[in-house]
Amino acid sequence: MLVHVADVLDANELAHCRERLAHAEWKDGKRTAGYQSAQVKNNGQLAENDPLAIELGALILDALSRNTTFFAAALPHTIYPPLFNRYTGGEHFGMHIDNAIRYDRRQQPALPVRTDLSATLFFAEPDEYDGGELVIEDTYGSHRVKLPAGHLILYPGSSLHKVTPVTHGARVASFFWLQSLVRSDAQRRQLFELDVAIQSLTARVPDAPELVSLTGVYHNLLRAWSDV
Ligand code: NI
Repeated sequence: MLVHVADVLDANELAHCRERLAHAEWKDGKRTAGYQSAQVKNNGQLAENDPLAIELGALILDALSRNTTFFAAALPHTIYPPLFNRYTGGEHFGMHIDNAIRYDRRQQPALPVRTDLSATLFFAEPDEYDGGELVIEDTYGSHRVKLPAGHLILYPGSSLHKVTPVTHGARVASFFWLQSLVRSDAQRRQLFELDVAIQSLTARVPDAPELVSLTGVYHNLLRAWSDV
């Protein structure tokens, strides 16, 4: 399931992040890649311990904690601290799959995070660069994603994906992984669809007695399918 989460950042947060990232210290992105992906990765990235990455990462996590669509779609258990990258001058990232487990070394001992979901949050507007599409392969085929600044795409960590060459301008984004309370993408999708339907019915018919029963079904499925 691919989910587009609109307006994760408000205009002030977005302007602040863009201004700070304009002066960032970009390093070679191969530093955080696994063996296979290092062969095809060609971009700039902030070091994980760069104070700017830590500061803006916290801002993003705070914004996500207020976002009900993100929460309903991801059902987050543990979020790996956000990383930041930039593609410019023809840089790209060839087809690859992300490592299944990432170790958050800011925790002692390092905390393993299973990458059930991958996320990309865009900081550049689509008309500020040419190319730079995130191409995600799933069972329904190939999806090309290029979102407005401040928007986020959530996709299964199990998907093959790539970023096409940025031939003009700069594509700046944050990316991160998360372990979900629900490991299975298919089950998480059922819960998300049920949640969206319940929210919509609540808005339309707030006193519908079936809402109690449907909410019960939602929570009982979550209880049955969650790993905690
Ligand atoms: Ni990747």
